[in-house]
Amino acid sequence: MRIHILDNYDEMSTKAAAIVASQIILKPDSVLGLATGSTPLGMYAQLVEMHKKNRVDFREVKTFNLDEYLGLAPDHLQSYNYYMFENFFNHVNIRPENINIPPGNPENIDRACLSYDRAIKEAREIDLQVLGVGINGHIGFNEPDFKLKTETHVVNLTPETIETNSRFFDSVEDVPRRAISMGMGSIMKANKILLMASGKSKAEVIKKTVSGEITTEVPASLLQLHPEVILVLDREAGSYLE
Ligand code: GLP
Repeated sequence: MRIHILDNYDEMSTKAAAIVASQIILKPDSVLGLATGSTPLGMYAQLVEMHKKNRVDFREVKTFNLDEYLGLAPDHLQSYNYYMFENFFNHVNIRPENINIPPGNPENIDRACLSYDRAIKEAREIDLQVLGVGINGHIGFNEPDFKLKTETHVVNLTPETIETNSRFFDSVEDVPRRAISMGMGSIMKANKILLMASGKSKAEVIKKTVSGEITTEVPASLLQLHPEVILVLDREAGSYLE
């Protein structure tokens, strides 16, 4: 793992945006795996700025988002679909047909999972997968469990994740109990992985990610098995690393 520890959130975002932009400059038709959550917001804002200054061109880029809440319509303010368009896609020149987000309201969930995996396979490979991490070690919505799934699947969110994510909703009752998530197999097959983390609340899980026991109970720990992982952290998130 290559680990970059930056002084603060803004510098972490700048570093992550530079890594994503370099990927696209080197390979204009890159396939990106994208994450939501509060951590990558600054990175998306910086990529939008870079695009406005003609420094990065998304015309040939294809994207696959990691996950979506089940039961939320695409225009729901807390859906990841809404988040992605509001914070990123609406402000860059990506082609709508190149955007892939797991559906939150599919007619047939099993078929939706299969068709998401088929689309990933047709894209051949994810060049760069951006990840955040939950305080319990989840990546995407692959929650800690005694076993993990390789392909896109439905997840029952843990009480901890529901509680943590309730900060975005009016009340904890409004947080969907289930989500659809890309599996660990698709994540681990990405050529490169960029994991971002910010703040003291992530310090413990970052330590486990880097040097803890490799266990499905901390899905992020499996990244130790991947040959090309770049960690971009702010000082607080990296504070438990030696
Ligand atoms: C959410 C998302 C993840 C995200 C993580 C951390 O539940 N499903 O994709 O990486 O939790 O979120 P945050 O960046 O807000 O801490």
